[in-house]
Amino acid sequence: MNLTSQSRFRHTPVLVDEVCALLINDLSGNYVDGTFGLGGHTKALSSLLNADATLIGIDQDKTALAQFTPSSLQQTLHLVCTNFENLDQVLIDLNIPQVHGILLDLGLNSFSLDDPERGFAFSLQGPLDMRFDQSSKLTAEIVVNDYSEQDIANVIYRYGEERNSRRIAHRIVEMRKDKRLTQSEELKLAVIKSVDPRFRTKSLARVFQAFRIEVNREMEVLAKVLDIAVQALVPGGRLAVISYHSLEDRMVKLHFRDLALDIPRQPGMRDEEIKIPLLKRISTKPIIASQEEAGSNPRARSAKLRVCERTNNAAE
Ligand SMILES: C[S@@+](CC[C@H](N)C(=O)[O-])C[C@H]1O[C@@H](n2cnc3c(N)ncnc32)[C@H](O)[C@@H]1O
Repeated sequence: MNLTSQSRFRHTPVLVDEVCALLINDLSGNYVDGTFGLGGHTKALSSLLNADATLIGIDQDKTALAQFTPSSLQQTLHLVCTNFENLDQVLIDLNIPQVHGILLDLGLNSFSLDDPERGFAFSLQGPLDMRFDQSSKLTAEIVVNDYSEQDIANVIYRYGEERNSRRIAHRIVEMRKDKRLTQSEELKLAVIKSVDPRFRTKSLARVFQAFRIEVNREMEVLAKVLDIAVQALVPGGRLAVISYHSLEDRMVKLHFRDLALDIPRQPGMRDEEIKIPLLKRISTKPIIASQEEAGSNPRARSAKLRVCERTNNAAE
């Protein structure tokens, strides 16, 4: 991205007051921002925490991390460029066995979305890339050109929940017979030619989302980090997850619900056999942006925040 576009760039963290209010439980604690992005939430947490608190920022996108000036915070900040699925190893390496709060603000940062070279936005022309981690091997170009028609349809249906998945997959396969598809414009064209013009924008958003999820293994790493994060919390520590589409939100909701389930006492059960659930849900309904925030920050409109708290259960 060139300097002119960088200087125009602004970023507003989503649901920032709600995240801070619900996540902070110890002003001198250790907090992980597992999706550091441009550091918006970390800066807000930092402004409320004591100077002896510790912040750990993780992001797999090194171009996002490079935008941040760490000296602007009063706390110690450890910035780590890795996938959040490696959270347990990050904490071992830092010698921080447990933390008081973990935030996951899923998806991609607006800096990368606005960069045509990353290929995330169907409104911009760029290469079929879509990798959060630019050192990883799988790109959207590989999915588009090397997956079978059936596999492409499955990706579009499963991760985009798009009804026209088969038609779009078929069109992609027809187009790639002539030449390898390398540009986001070509994927856009395949969608436009396959769907009713009235639903074009929604279908484009769904298809681009589907390819992004596949390229970055988003559902797989989310399932993994939810387990690791719960284990990394001190009793009373909290995990906050902001998701932007129904697949993610469903996974977070079910995960929290399952770990918060009380195992009912069976007749004849001894006290030591009664399991205390690992989690307490802070609310069963997701927290959404106020009308004011949704009006001023379009990204906040689809955001759903779910928060849970680690109980005193020392087992598992
Ligand atoms: C919505 S942005 C976060 C914005 C951030 N909260 C802020 O206020 O600046 C999501 C970030 O998470 C990163 N990300 C997504 N999945 C990730 C993963 N599995 N591991 C590490 N970082 C990830 C993306 O690269 C992106 O920078």
